[in-house]
Order: sequence, then structure tokens, then C-alpha cells
Amino acid sequence: MIRFNENYAKLKASYLFADIAKRVTAFTQANPQANVIRLGIGDVTEPLPPACIEALHAGADEMGRRETFKGYGPEQGYAFLREAIALHDFQARGCPIEPDEIFISDGSKCDCGNIQEIFAHDIRLAIPDPVYPVYVDTNVMAGRTGANIDGRYEGITYLDSTAANGYVPAIPSTPADLIYLCFPNNPTGAVATRAQLAAWVAYAKRHKSIILFDAAYEAFIRNPEIPHSIYEIEGARDVAIEFRSFSKTAGFTGTRCAFIVIPKTLAAHDSLGRATPVHSLWMRRHTTKFNGVSYPVQKAAAAIYTDAGRQQTRALTDFYLGNAKLIREAMARLGLPCVGGDNSPYIWVNTGRDSWEFFDLLLHQAQVVCTPGAGFGKCGEGHVRISSFNSRENVVTALDRIAAALK
Ligand code: MLT
Repeated sequence: MIRFNENYAKLKASYLFADIAKRVTAFTQANPQANVIRLGIGDVTEPLPPACIEALHAGADEMGRRETFKGYGPEQGYAFLREAIALHDFQARGCPIEPDEIFISDGSKCDCGNIQEIFAHDIRLAIPDPVYPVYVDTNVMAGRTGANIDGRYEGITYLDSTAANGYVPAIPSTPADLIYLCFPNNPTGAVATRAQLAAWVAYAKRHKSIILFDAAYEAFIRNPEIPHSIYEIEGARDVAIEFRSFSKTAGFTGTRCAFIVIPKTLAAHDSLGRATPVHSLWMRRHTTKFNGVSYPVQKAAAAIYTDAGRQQTRALTDFYLGNAKLIREAMARLGLPCVGGDNSPYIWVNTGRDSWEFFDLLLHQAQVVCTPGAGFGKCGEGHVRISSFNSRENVVTALDRIAAALK
């Protein structure tokens, strides 16, 4: 008799964004005339930058000629892309990262979800609340937690992010082996200062732990004091893995390309305390389970680092930040406190009401989709996340409708 992985039974019936999609579909089926504006899932709406499109076409043409055709690429990603990333995203900011410490992948969701596989089963986890649900759910699937009791899984140290701490969690008083951090944060949009990140690096060194640093929204940082990479902090090479994505930076949510940085100096230990490079563990996993991102897509990603590509991607993130500013201003007019939106595409609104109720109110009264904060964890209750990923026209219309609905 085939049996299933019973850890799946501990999960909520469906993934947060699938749950929301179901509610929205039910609403649109019942109200076919409704023109629903989606400011829920952080999915980009603006087309790919011209530099990327040109490179994508050129890559496709190369695949159509015998002399330039390519079969399987290097599993770690083409050197031309890894070299551009190491130079522009890291070395230019003083981070000592080499091209062979970078692994190209088809998305940060997969990377953040898969990385836990290479660590032991009985490690201690520290995970922020609210949080991108992938970090928690993949550890539940792997059997690292107990049951979900009153909205929280046994076996996880939750790092509360609340208005009281500016939505940047404090360092826990107990040791953790694997720590998930995300800055600029999804869902709150909060950013961490150099001093705050340095404190996390010191904590990880003290406890021989590893920080998983999700920097998928790095391209939205405008405050020059805020670090773009954890490797801007001295010593982070020895304690941190960083995740980056082209999804929000350059509109690649449908094109798929991301990367993970694993410094060769980062080690994990066996049960006898002997150190092994995490880089070799991930290399073994990656080459066994992944065959690379397509060549034209990697060409398109590399085009982001050309002069034209850099200008065009900056214009894209500026555009969404312009939407975010409008959203923040509209929330202020409504008297709803919010954070995020200045160095991040997300605005975290303190509604002071049940978050699913507020979600339903906006859907039914304004035909606007947001994301209920409770879907990101217990501390998300009372909040909603509004995404700035949409056209200017839709954002302006959505804000007018929200204002009318809340009057
Ligand atoms: C979100 O809305 O949180 C993101 O789009 C999710 C993702 O990047 O997978």
C-alpha cells in the first residue's frame, strides 16, 4: 500500500496565493462584470526591458544554427552570466564573491524551498513572522516541525516582526542553526540597517549557524545607507547564503531566472563536528536534480548588466516605486499606518481589523485584491500587504476605489 508523506497533512490545505486565487475566481464568477485589480501576489506587469528582449532573440537565433547550437549547459550556469553577477552585484559593492560561488537557477522560490534539503533533519530553525510562506512550508514538508498549534508550528523559533520593533525582528535569546532573513522584506517591505545585519552575522558566528538571506527585492533599495547584500557585512562569507532573483528586478517572473550565492568558505558540520563546505553539498544536489536554465534566458539575464540594461531595469523598479509612493500616500490619507514602499515594492498596512475580513471588504466593495497579513503568519494579523506591481492607471483606479469603499 502506497503511503504519503504525512508531514503534508500538517500544512494548510492550500498555498496562500492559491487560496487567494480561489477566492478571487469565486468572486469573478459570481460578478462577471467586475473589473478586478490585482495588487495581491507580487507579479510584475511591465514588459521585459528591450536589452533583455534583444538578447533573448539573439540567444534563440543561436539555438537555430548548427555552429552556435547548444545542448545541456553547465549546471551551475553559463560563466558569462556568473561573471557579470559577481562583478556588478557583489565586487562593485566591495563584496568578495567569485563567479564560481554563484549557481544560476530558475527561481528563488525553488532555491529558498530546496536549500533546506542539504541540512540535517534535527536542526533548530529561526523564521520571521510574518514571512514568505515557502520558508516555513518546505521545512514542514521535510518533517522538521511538529503540529500547527494556534497558527504556529512546534519546533520553530518565530522571530516576531511587529510595529514595536519596526518590523525588523530581534535576535533570539536561544541558539538557532538555520536562520531565514529577507530584506527588503516580503511581506512588510521593511529594510535592515548595516548594524542590524552585523548583529545577525555575529550571532551566526557565535552559534556556528547559517543565515539564509533572501535579497530578491534588493533592486528596490534607494536609501544609500542600506546594504544590498549580506556580504557587505564583514565575516558574512563564513555564515551566509544569499538568494537573488531577476523576477522583480527585471520582470522575469514568467521568464524564470535567479541565483544563489554560496561562498566556498561556508561550512556545515557532521554529527562528529567535522566541517564540510556547503558549496560542495549544494553542487552535488544541484547537479543531480537540476539541468540548468535555458541559454536564451541566461543571455537575457546577462543583458541586465549592460549599460542599456542597467538603465532600463532601474527605470522599471523606479516605475513600481512610483506606484508604491502613491499607495503609501493614499493609506496616509485614509489614516492607515503603513511601512515599506520606499525601498521595496510592498506596502504593509496596519488596518487594525481582521486581515481576511479586510481582504474580503476590498474585494467586494472595491474589486481590489490585496494579500491578507494573516496568510504570512500570526504577527501578520491586523495587516494587509498591497503590492505596487501593476500599471499606473490600475493603481490610481484601485486607490480611488479603496478610498470610496472605506469612507
Ligand atoms: C509574493 O507575492 O510574495 C511573491 O510574488 C511570491 C514569489 O515571489 O514567489
